[in-house]
Amino acid sequence: MVNKITVVGAGNVGATAAQRLAEKELARTVVLVDVVEGIPQGKGLDQWQSAPIEGFDSRLIGTNGYEETAGSDIVVITAGIARKPGMSRDDLLNTNAGIVKQVSEQIKKTSPNAIIIMVSNPLDVMSWVAKQVTGFPRERVLGMAGVLDTARYRAFLAEAMDVSTRDIQAMVLGGHGDTMVPLVSYTSVSGIPVRQLLAADKLKAIVERTRGGGAEIVGLLKTGSAYYAPSAAAVQMCEAIVLDQKRILPCAAWLEGEYGMSGLFLGVPCKLGRKGLEQIIEVELTPDEKAALEKSAEAVREPMGAIKL
Ligand code: APR
Repeated sequence: MVNKITVVGAGNVGATAAQRLAEKELARTVVLVDVVEGIPQGKGLDQWQSAPIEGFDSRLIGTNGYEETAGSDIVVITAGIARKPGMSRDDLLNTNAGIVKQVSEQIKKTSPNAIIIMVSNPLDVMSWVAKQVTGFPRERVLGMAGVLDTARYRAFLAEAMDVSTRDIQAMVLGGHGDTMVPLVSYTSVSGIPVRQLLAADKLKAIVERTRGGGAEIVGLLKTGSAYYAPSAAAVQMCEAIVLDQKRILPCAAWLEGEYGMSGLFLGVPCKLGRKGLEQIIEVELTPDEKAALEKSAEAVREPMGAIKL
């Protein structure tokens, strides 16, 4: 375990992530931060009281300030507003950019060596805001999207084929939006290419459902967006870093020439270890996949231009 992981935003995603981090004992202390008075303190205390039952030794605390977060090894940012029905992730742009900017300034001051995992949407753009404001190297700013989008894709595939979710290897690249790029050519069931097991029309429908996976849940919940799978995805990234697992996971990373692109965060296969982003892996793409990735990059670049930091 590491000494300290901070989760900023004690809402649905943040509080669930904090509980998962503690249950996995990934940090000695898990700090929950929120602007609303009493909420992080109350949730932190409630969660800490689950320790004797669940049997974990991580200490959970909640606060409205950043003193308690000082020297964090990892900071997961979930602060912001969540989507309501009919809203796209980009509709959250300016509100969340202001929040992420303010949070990033605090992290820079109190945890200058932290690895940031961005969850607030629109994710790819918010990762850029955090990188700009903190000046952290790209190894220490990552966005959580690909793990979640891939989990949705894997869940739908498992259901369609009636097989274990564990046996499905897949990757969804690109931005965290309607333009995301599920890589069908790299999707397999225990090594068996998925195209041998599932008809093309069914596969196409699953790819479409994956692209709208977040909106499907927003439509059902009506008052907020998904949080069980998003928090699990952020915690899987933390686990890969804390345990130096060298896992290859799709994450939003700052591109410096990879896939022929630079100057933006985009979902690509990343090796995660104790240093954070340890490598970006460039896989061969079909011309269609390459075109889809470039289109997705455009959808990330556009809102970046609308933000003044
Ligand atoms: N500092 C700390 N916390 C803040 C700040 C801030 N400056 N501004 C807002 N918050 C807190 C809110 O008080 C709230 O408790 O962020 C929390 C957000 O929680 P929810 O509204 O429950 O939203 P959630 O579902 O957790 O989603 C958070 O993650 O998946 C993304 O799109 C989602 O951007 C959204 C974020």
